[in-house]
Amino acid sequence: MPLKILITITLICIQNSISLSLTPVLIESQAIDAENIYEFPKNFSFGAATAAYQIEGGWKEDGKGPSIWDTFVHNHPEMIADGSNGDVGDDSYHHFMDDIKALKEVGFEHYRFSISWSRIFPTSTIVNEKAFDYYNKLIDALIVNNIEPVVTMLHYDIPQWIQDTGGFLNPYFIKYFKLYAYTLYKNFGSRVKIWITFNEPFESCVEGYSYGSTPPLITLRGVGEYMCAHHVILAHAAAYETYKAHFKQDQRGMVGITLDSRFYFRKNPQDSPEIIDRFMNFELGWFAHPIYSKTGGYPQVMIDEINERSKKEGRAWSRLPEMTEDIKKFVRGTADFLGFNYYSSRYAELDTSDYNPSSNPTITEDSRIRTSIDPSWKRAKSSWLYSVPQGLHDALVWIKDQYDNIPVLITENGWSDDGQLNDDGRIEYFRDHLIAVAKAINEEKCNVIGYTAWSIIDNFEWRKGFSERFGIYHVNVTSPTKERTAKKSAKFMREVINNRFIGQ
Ligand SMILES: *[C@@H]1O[C@H](CO)[C@@H](O)[C@H](O)[C@H]1NC(C)=O
Ligand SMILES: *[C@@H]1O[C@H](CO)[C@@H](O)[C@H](O)[C@H]1NC(C)=O
Repeated sequence: MPLKILITITLICIQNSISLSLTPVLIESQAIDAENIYEFPKNFSFGAATAAYQIEGGWKEDGKGPSIWDTFVHNHPEMIADGSNGDVGDDSYHHFMDDIKALKEVGFEHYRFSISWSRIFPTSTIVNEKAFDYYNKLIDALIVNNIEPVVTMLHYDIPQWIQDTGGFLNPYFIKYFKLYAYTLYKNFGSRVKIWITFNEPFESCVEGYSYGSTPPLITLRGVGEYMCAHHVILAHAAAYETYKAHFKQDQRGMVGITLDSRFYFRKNPQDSPEIIDRFMNFELGWFAHPIYSKTGGYPQVMIDEINERSKKEGRAWSRLPEMTEDIKKFVRGTADFLGFNYYSSRYAELDTSDYNPSSNPTITEDSRIRTSIDPSWKRAKSSWLYSVPQGLHDALVWIKDQYDNIPVLITENGWSDDGQLNDDGRIEYFRDHLIAVAKAINEEKCNVIGYTAWSIIDNFEWRKGFSERFGIYHVNVTSPTKERTAKKSAKFMREVINNRFIGQ
């Protein structure tokens, strides 16, 4: 037996015996029925995620400029459930070593975090050199601890100065984003090999530019979300091309985008299965089809529906921007993997009522989706979060079928509660969803390369403040030292990562 294999086996045995004595959870798992054990591939990576605004604090330290979230929480504290904000919050700007300690304790192999654009470019296209120190320290400490950095470039917190030029609605945004991406590759690319351009642009565009419920609070229903998405997709492609042109050959990393979606089950079994494709295309396909499909461009179902409605409304052209052949070609294939955030699913049926052209629809009405839930689904603290592990499985299969089995990195999946240390609800959610992932890999041959839990620590949950907590570690936000304390789910995740299998 080659030495390397022998050492590996010995190490696994040692690791297992250590965790056996440390974790009572493991004792339970010995009773697992062998038929219900699902293995993860050897090279499958387990990680945890955060985002800059949700954990960093230090909102104006070392030359940082304001982002749209700084502006929003300061102008509208009444719009945050507990009146809190991210000015200090978890203060990872000063306590990031505690975050790394937590990651290390659980045994996570990668850490997905985001960079605050307005630290690097506070007020204009002039770079703030001081901002590199923090991220260099963070990245170097991760590498020393053998944790792979996975970096999101933009996780909702657009610099205010870019918003002042129109944000995602200004085509000039693409040029700003390209400069930002170039700057990140240049400064961090020697150590960062996995890049994510955008996080959940569906939410940024729909909530931020159509519903107006999150910053920048713009209500351009049925127009703003489509224009926003168009520029996001182009900016993503520009960032990918920049990497390919200037860095890929030396740095040898991967660039992708993180999209979020629910899965939709047919409410009416008599509906044709294509109805699922329609709803998935109005959510995931909106961004994924232009980048990952063979043909490129927006999903045909979106083009047709929005075109027809725009005509009925008497408009000069469709509310969905046109993708010319040149744009289609520029965008198609600009990703090495798909980052996928999954939390929940719904039942869906088609709204078949006659279209009223003066109804001022958003994408939600354009999709003609009518959603419902199954009363048996367990709900988290968050009102939108029902546990539906089958939806994750089916979404992964849908992605495999639609996008030629592109490598998928699950970049978020998690459960909210009040922040209690005894978080059995979170353990159950993780277990059920990890089983769904393992089944998709083993039985459906889905090309899933890793799983990222949201989140390593409790953090500022946007408009819910600290009232809904997703952490595997509790954070005492009121304490000056911001202690991170392991919850029961930390032990559970440690067991899964040690074992590299999951059982029912
Ligand atoms: C992981 O290993 C499998 C099987 O050896 C291989 O097909 C796959 O390409 C590997 N994935 C990555 C991300 O290295
Ligand atoms: C949080 O910290 C404060 C201040 O140090 C302390 O009074 C409080 O007991 C702590 N809360 C928890 C849950 O540990």
